[in-house]
Amino acid sequence: MNPTRGLLIYGFGGHARSVADVALAAGMPELCFVDANAQEGESFLGFPVVRQWDGPLPEGWQAFSAAGGNALRQQQCEHIKALGWPLATLIAPSAIIGVGSRIEAGCLIAHQAHVGPMATIGTGCIVNTCAVVEHECLIGDFTHVSVNATVAGRSRIGRFGMVGAGATIIDGVEIADHVTIGAGAVVIRSLRQPGVYVGIPVRDISS
Ligand SMILES: CC(C)(COP(=O)(O)OP(=O)(O)OC[C@H]1O[C@@H](n2cnc3c(N)ncnc32)[C@H](O)[C@@H]1OP(=O)(O)O)[C@@H](O)C(=O)NCCC(=O)NCCS
Repeated sequence: MNPTRGLLIYGFGGHARSVADVALAAGMPELCFVDANAQEGESFLGFPVVRQWDGPLPEGWQAFSAAGGNALRQQQCEHIKALGWPLATLIAPSAIIGVGSRIEAGCLIAHQAHVGPMATIGTGCIVNTCAVVEHECLIGDFTHVSVNATVAGRSRIGRFGMVGAGATIIDGVEIADHVTIGAGAVVIRSLRQPGVYVGIPVRDISS
């Protein structure tokens, strides 16, 4: 459920701009970014960027990690939860969310993304702009499905994965934790080992 009053966004990199764009499209009235590298008095679209936030979180606000890196996003989500603050789930109004699907806290479902029926998107995931995660897929925690990538029906992707821009994973494939799939790659078989896979069909370039 999108928060209503305001969003404290951890991070001010490129992905944070996309997060802000979705938050604003969803009607969020207030944003604040927290980034240790912020300049004095920095702002973005009139919203403040601060080096640290000493809390508490204002009434009705939620917090969110906009780290593009999976490990940092996990750390920030854990930090938010440890503070007892509500961890937001952000869903763009233009996204299509299928019946019976489950989207855990800390996820970004970006503009025009499509999550098919009965799919599960684990905590802290990114389903980026125009990405498709089809029916009954399972996307493990802190995995990033990049812009324009397609994960066809009943595939299962592990935790801390990265599906590169425009990559395609055919239906019913199983992918281990900590697998990176290069931009434009095509996965036609299960990938049981962590690693970096590129090409059509994919080959392992990590060893
Ligand atoms: C797969 C990836 C992570 C590899 O990065 P890397 O480890 O730095 O790899 P390198 O750039 O050193 O390339 C290693 C080799 O793989 C090849 N390669 C890298 N990415 C490739 C890709 N997507 N498709 C085909 N070949 C690729 C390189 O040409 C190189 O081949 P060579 O050894 O024959 O010269 C990266 O290239 C990639 O595709 N990242 C996805 C980024 C993305 O989609 N971001 C979207 C954000 S929304």
